[in-house]
Amino acid sequence: MKISGRTAALALSVATVGLPLTSHADDEAALAQKGSYIAILGDCAACHTSPDGPPFSGGLGLNSPLGKIYATNITPDKKTGIGNWSFEDFERLMRHGIRKDGSTVYPAMPYPSYAHMSDNDLHALYAYLMHSVVPVEQINKVADIRWPFSIKWPLSIWRMVFVPKITPSSDNSSEIERGRYLVEGPGHCGSCHTPRNFAMAEKALDDSDQRYLSGGFVIDNWVAPSLRSDTFDGLEAWSAADIATFLKKGRDQHGATFGAMNGVVIHSTSQMTDDDLSAIGKYLKTLKTPTNAKNVSFTYNPTIAHELASGKLPTHGAALYVDRCAACHRPDGRGYPDVFPELAGNPVLQSANASSVAHLILNGGRLPALKTAPSSLVMGPYRDILDDQDIADLTNFVQSAWGNRGGKITADDVAKLRKETKWETLKGGSPETTPEITQ
Ligand code: HEC
Ligand code: HEC
Ligand code: HEC
Repeated sequence: MKISGRTAALALSVATVGLPLTSHADDEAALAQKGSYIAILGDCAACHTSPDGPPFSGGLGLNSPLGKIYATNITPDKKTGIGNWSFEDFERLMRHGIRKDGSTVYPAMPYPSYAHMSDNDLHALYAYLMHSVVPVEQINKVADIRWPFSIKWPLSIWRMVFVPKITPSSDNSSEIERGRYLVEGPGHCGSCHTPRNFAMAEKALDDSDQRYLSGGFVIDNWVAPSLRSDTFDGLEAWSAADIATFLKKGRDQHGATFGAMNGVVIHSTSQMTDDDLSAIGKYLKTLKTPTNAKNVSFTYNPTIAHELASGKLPTHGAALYVDRCAACHRPDGRGYPDVFPELAGNPVLQSANASSVAHLILNGGRLPALKTAPSSLVMGPYRDILDDQDIADLTNFVQSAWGNRGGKITADDVAKLRKETKWETLKGGSPETTPEITQ
């Protein structure tokens, strides 16, 4: 057969484009590899993977004050996932909350934070979802929700009113800048740790506003504390290294993860690099509210510890504490560092809203078993042992003992909490539902 000049030229051009094609595939693979880490930074699996389903196939129901919202299938399946989405479609969703079909997603998808993400990170994340995630055919569930609840606005208007134009950050300058980027952007820490307004929008999306990360928002009856370095209910007593340890191991000398923070530690922060955790710790230490009303530091008050030690029990709450709690948290409230958390001076117990503490007493807590800290220490549930008044008295005792200055709770509040919560809240932290440790 005579090979025409044209065929030869074609063969040659195929051969030459062949080379860049291979290295292009290598680039894609490297990008997807980087993207798998971005997915960890963004904690995408916490919402988009249900405990019994394949990765990123959606289906997990998220409770919101408005009803249940289901995270969607973000595998590259062409029919039911995002397999047909271009990078531009994906970017529009991540930065503006607008789907390929033009509709707006519920802000349960934390796009107002992801809007800070850099182009590079979004490209890598897209490459990962498209090339490394197994496509799964699973139809999305429809939200069971009373949106737009009290305000009769469509989601698109909500977006226009409450999501300002955000300039994507650059992610590679100083350590503090890197920390800021991780917290504001992929880590979306503000979606829980920043208080929200009447329309459920975060009151601030970055640290130009002192309400940013100032705490108080309640998720599934857990109060997210302040992450600012304020006295009492802030992280004044935590060093940057303490914060990094807490995020890596779910515990440090001051406290232990519980409730809504467990998922964040399990799926995201315990898998971050030490450099990134250190950057987050250092950045958070830069946040302080200068005009803090309680501008004195926590000082330990030994009076109650002496009383308890000498068998004097001033209140019913104190008596219950000695009976039920002191074995682990000790009469002086100091606990056993890294094992049973300290209650004296613990920011969780200085919160104006005491629900987290009553919630823990009702349902107990279990530290997640992590590769970075395998022991899964347990505090048992007291819902069948103590009545609502007991739990209120106990909560009010620990929120004010040893110099603590937390808010109070009533037996009626505890009754409500008892109804709204279940013992299975513990599940989030149990080793069986911690897939990371079997990897
Ligand atoms: C706090 C929970 C949460 C986290 C974390 C989260 N998402 Fe979502 N996401 C949702 C919910 C809920 C929806 C659906 C909202 C709706 O139905 O309006 C959604 C929707 C989406 C969609 C639109 C899919 C579609 O078919 O419409 C994409 C894409 C997406 N998320 C990607 C991501 C990526 C990538 C990450 C990690 C960087 C992530 N999400 C992290 C809750 C979350
Ligand atoms: C899904 C909601 C949610 C998200 C997202 C979240 N947190 Fe939390 N976080 C909580 C809750 C609730 C607590 C209280 C329970 C506890 O102390 O573990 C908490 C506690 C903490 C504590 C301990 C504070 C203390 O006073 O005991 C730190 C530190 C922390 N979070 C840092 C972060 C960082 C950094 C991010 C972002 C990478 C983040 N959180 C994202 C809900 C969340
Ligand atoms: C068997 C030991 C044990 C007993 C008894 C116990 N706890 Fe705990 N407690 C723990 C452990 C372990 C944690 C961490 C749990 C977690 O992170 O989910 C904890 C966490 C807490 C916390 C949250 C502190 C933080 O920063 O994480 C509070 C508040 C608390 N316990 C109060 C009490 C009260 C009040 C009682 C008595 C009703 C009590 N505990 C009894 C072991 C115990």
